[in-house]
Amino acid sequence: MSDPRIAIVGATGAVGGVTLDILRERAFPVGGLRLTASARSVGRTLTFAGEEIAVEETAPAVFDDCDLAFISATDAVSRDMALAAKERGCVVVDDSGVWRMEPDVPLVIPEVNAADVDAHRGILAIPNCAATPIVLALDALRRASPIRRVIAATYQSVSGAGAAAVAELDEQSRALLAGGEARPERRPQIAFNLLPRIGSFRDNGYTSEETKVLHETRKILHEPNLPLSATCVRVPVPVCHSAAVNIEFERPVSPDEARSLLAAHPGVAVVDDPESDAYPMPADCAGRDDVFVGRVREDSALPNGLALWIVADNLRKGAATNAVQVAEEIVRRSAWLRAGV
Ligand code: A2P
Repeated sequence: MSDPRIAIVGATGAVGGVTLDILRERAFPVGGLRLTASARSVGRTLTFAGEEIAVEETAPAVFDDCDLAFISATDAVSRDMALAAKERGCVVVDDSGVWRMEPDVPLVIPEVNAADVDAHRGILAIPNCAATPIVLALDALRRASPIRRVIAATYQSVSGAGAAAVAELDEQSRALLAGGEARPERRPQIAFNLLPRIGSFRDNGYTSEETKVLHETRKILHEPNLPLSATCVRVPVPVCHSAAVNIEFERPVSPDEARSLLAAHPGVAVVDDPESDAYPMPADCAGRDDVFVGRVREDSALPNGLALWIVADNLRKGAATNAVQVAEEIVRRSAWLRAGV
């Protein structure tokens, strides 16, 4: 077929902007491009391949002449627009939490479960940006031994909460450094602070973000009973999510074996030489597509355990890069037309 005609819904947002960059960087075949956002952005233009493109208001009719839509806006937009696009024969790669756990929606990290793409019925989802790096590391390591349980603490950057949150971090930091007050508006103060709540609280005391990490990890790895406990924390870092992860295996796995498996896994890079102070850090990993792993060591508390540290750019591999890779799989597998689309 000819090059797919593409819509980016949420094109003015933190992930939408990076999606434009990544389509270009990866030379994704683009047969046409519609950029949509809220009514607030009508009148703006964005640049793609040197061409100025006007931002349109998001509406079902946009999908009439599109083959593929990347949606990264709000949950409400994803709920309505994914169905509108699907009804018009436009395949959706969605970045929200709305569709991920639906049984007929593949939830895909191509380096882990690319074959799941084939089962789609018009809507595919990419995982939460905190789950993706953890899943890639677990997928590498389970080749050494089945995993018994996982305990993770995440350190998630503000860009995961959108472009407005990045601006807030900037404003609050400047105000505090100038001797003023942070004046938080929509969220608790983030500058010089840590927020141990991302999303809403559930009855069991976990947040919605922590619950997503659990269920999405199980779905992508096809391990529906994997025990996993996550604590997700927002940190005053602009880009890159980090995680401290402790894994218990059925059999012992040495740090050397773990490093070899991680380094051999597509999409994962090992940066692990503590003696020369080499370990992944957000400032170094921002703008990169790999998931970086370091500080690999025997866990001193878990039997057959390993402890490790993971960093990945949440806007790229955590969102836009993964979404474009899923689209590449759709094209490669010629998985355009499915029953029910
Ligand atoms: P807009 O810039 O017009 O508000 P971020 O994750 O960085 O906050 O970006 C969210 C994206 O979702 C932006 O492109 C934003 O557009 C878009 N968006 C937010 N609300 C709506 C809406 N009701 N309809 C369509 N797009 C929306």
